[in-house]
Amino acid sequence: MIVRTMDFFSPEIRRNPFPLYDRLRAAAPLLHEPNFDAWMIFDYAGAKQALTDHDRFSSSMFAAGRRNPDWMIFLDPPRQSKLRGLISRAFTPKAIAELAPRIRELSRELLDKVSDRGEMDVAGEFATPLPMIVISEMIGVPSEEWPRFRHWSDVILKLSHTISAGSAAAAASADYFSVHTEMSAYVTALVEERRAQPKDDLLTRLVQAEVDGERLTGQEILGFVELLIVAGQETTSNLIANAILCFAANPDQLERLTASPELMPKAIEEVLRFRSPVQWVFRATKCDVEMHGQTIPAGKLVLPIIGSANRDPLIFTEPNRFDIGREPNPHIAFGHGIHFCLGAPLARLEASIALPDLLARLRRFEVAEESWEPRSALHVLGPTRLPVRFAPRPS
Ligand code: HEM
Repeated sequence: MIVRTMDFFSPEIRRNPFPLYDRLRAAAPLLHEPNFDAWMIFDYAGAKQALTDHDRFSSSMFAAGRRNPDWMIFLDPPRQSKLRGLISRAFTPKAIAELAPRIRELSRELLDKVSDRGEMDVAGEFATPLPMIVISEMIGVPSEEWPRFRHWSDVILKLSHTISAGSAAAAASADYFSVHTEMSAYVTALVEERRAQPKDDLLTRLVQAEVDGERLTGQEILGFVELLIVAGQETTSNLIANAILCFAANPDQLERLTASPELMPKAIEEVLRFRSPVQWVFRATKCDVEMHGQTIPAGKLVLPIIGSANRDPLIFTEPNRFDIGREPNPHIAFGHGIHFCLGAPLARLEASIALPDLLARLRRFEVAEESWEPRSALHVLGPTRLPVRFAPRPS
């Protein structure tokens, strides 16, 4: 089957890639895309293998002759393990649980602004600011500046366009360069402040941290801030907005949840499976790898397509059915293995607070635009704008 590069860029596919995945997975679970010179893995077993086998699949794009930002997510052990150890303390279940009251307060504040209106942009007015403010406060960057961080995050994410070699790739690289310079100046000033006056935040911990007896460099601290601003916000925003899309398309499941609110944790897992916020991740082969009767040569870009793996009929019964009681649900929306998402407990906590709040306010809601605007980065799934109409709160 021929896959055209455009297939992955069109707004229709950006909104609903799943029928295309189904066709590709059924034809061949491993597919070489000649325009990107990328090997795409569409099935669950193959995708999980690429995530787990870090001896043969590197997270560094340099291994495939490409570039990537200097972030832990693109590093291999032993450096990745050391850097991960450094910030894991901020993400322990106890540390995360302590954030619940503040998340609840923010969620209610944001919804109080819109509940009487009868219409809102779920993505722009709720699902985006909530995780952005939470992660900003955790890092210790001024949360009122979240729209600026969001812009930075959008530009960084668009680096996904660099997998193509066209003009979109050149534009994405140039935009990233200018944002990186701006962020670098901004974060350097904050680092200086923390050196002079330590606070109880992640930035101070990074400034004071040592790996192998050496302090982190300014570039490494900047890398962490960039990674956390992107990873901590984009994905969770999409999880919350995608939940609204799932319930809008499956009103029976919303009724079921209203009747049995204790199903909420399972419903969140099902949204993660059904509309995975991260649709694919990046790997590069360190050596020739045999998979599904083909050989992926060494030094090639590999894309384990998480969003397709999570719809694999060999693993999930009726994979295209949104079922909030699904059991078991071994989705890989947070990845697998040594790079398993560090922020998973935070994302789950945020969703478990935000969604009941949001659904309680959006009485009898409907999505106002069938062609809602998809995120522009290629490897994530969710809306940039999601206008909904609902019955306003009685005054
Ligand atoms: C629904 C929300 C989220 C989803 C679906 C998600 C998904 C993922 C995935 C798939 C990976 C693995 C990447 C790979 O193997 O290459 C990952 C890693 C990571 N995530 Fe998340 N994430 C979410 C929320 C968060 C949050 C809230 C944070 C931080 C506050 C975060 C921080 C990270 C970090 C730091 C890594 C890198 C871990 C490493 O390289 O060892 N994520 N995430």
